[in-house]
Amino acid sequence: MHSKVTKMLGIDFPIFAFTHCRDVAAAVTNAGGLGVLGAVAHTPEQLDIDLKWIAEQTKGRPFGVDLLIPRKYVGAESGGFDAASLKSMVPDEHREWIEELLDRYGVPPLPTAESDREQRGMAGLRIDPKGMAPLIDVAFDHKVALIASALGTPPQWLVDQAHANDIPVAALAGRLDHAVAHKNAGVDIVIAQGTEGGGHTGEIATMVLVPQVVDAVAPTPVLAAGGIATGRQMAAALALGAEGVWCGSVWLTTHEAETSPVIREKFLAATSADTRRSRSLTGKPARMLRSAWTDAWDEPTAPAPLGMPLQSILVADAQRRIHRIAHKEDSSARPLVTYFVGQVVGQMNMAMSSRDVVRDMVEGCLDAMERINAMLSGDAFRDR
Ligand SMILES: Cc1cc2nc3c(=O)[nH]c(=O)nc-3n(C[C@H](O)[C@H](O)[C@H](O)COP(=O)(O)O)c2cc1C
Repeated sequence: MHSKVTKMLGIDFPIFAFTHCRDVAAAVTNAGGLGVLGAVAHTPEQLDIDLKWIAEQTKGRPFGVDLLIPRKYVGAESGGFDAASLKSMVPDEHREWIEELLDRYGVPPLPTAESDREQRGMAGLRIDPKGMAPLIDVAFDHKVALIASALGTPPQWLVDQAHANDIPVAALAGRLDHAVAHKNAGVDIVIAQGTEGGGHTGEIATMVLVPQVVDAVAPTPVLAAGGIATGRQMAAALALGAEGVWCGSVWLTTHEAETSPVIREKFLAATSADTRRSRSLTGKPARMLRSAWTDAWDEPTAPAPLGMPLQSILVADAQRRIHRIAHKEDSSARPLVTYFVGQVVGQMNMAMSSRDVVRDMVEGCLDAMERINAMLSGDAFRDR
């Protein structure tokens, strides 16, 4: 297939895979798409190891890196706080409420050794642009084909440095004004992500958002994201004016994904009605699987979620405690388990390889385009 983005990045198909799993990123790149590794939770050392591994697996084929660089977060005015100050800002009332919730579901505290390790891990948590700089340096060292960022227009220094290294920059937008701000900052690819998508999302549907963004940022290429997992959905995205598709959820039930067995099981069984946009994991609205956890945060007696990154700090320990015991068949913690996923979860009914997902999408897209073309010539009626 040929589009502005296949040409820009030297890929066979305009299919982009956002993933936290290096195996998925490598598999999608090797299948002719572009694997993009979500690196927000990586240390620079881990990122270096993972990018080296992906480069070995993909033998010169292109892959990208994605970072969350929020414009708005607690402490943004002063350039961010250190981990200890952030921890001290979490109200006791919130901690007590979570403790009661976990108690209700019989979730025990972490063993001391694990709790200590967790505390040390939190010391490295930095979501401000300065905190991301070492990760960006590692990405540049590996000559990644694309740097993507979410939760705001990427800082000008990032765009300038990427361009000085000949690396295109992509940025996610959930609203028209965000897309225009990205274009004005020099972003090379705008990813228009509809509310159906997994992870942080806005309120506008992909079908409505994409054509508006395409028109507003032209000639900057646009990728459609949110609700795309099949060839028919890909063909629809191209019909809306997108140059390609950016998918996140569909990879979570592939063979290569590191998704835990409990989450995988829940995803395979879920319908498209089983997701919620909730601030309960990060403080910003993000689409995830509905569970006893999201329901509890929607109760009138629940405290209001905190700002980013305080909410993540508040819930990190609780999430680890839930996942630690939820894998047991009869675990009382199972109902609490949730994870980011979009409405396409209802279409994810069978585990398959990432390569097959790419192949099915391409074949399904071509079939859909042929079917629509046949309507023009009248061929569509000949078989009926
Ligand atoms: C588990 C998960 C985590 C995500 N985390 C990020 C992230 O760190 N950075 C980012 O740019 N997008 C993130 N997203 C959003 C994806 O990049 C993508 O826009 C979205 O998944 C597209 O919609 P879909 O889920 O319907 O495919 C995440 C999505 C999921 C499912």
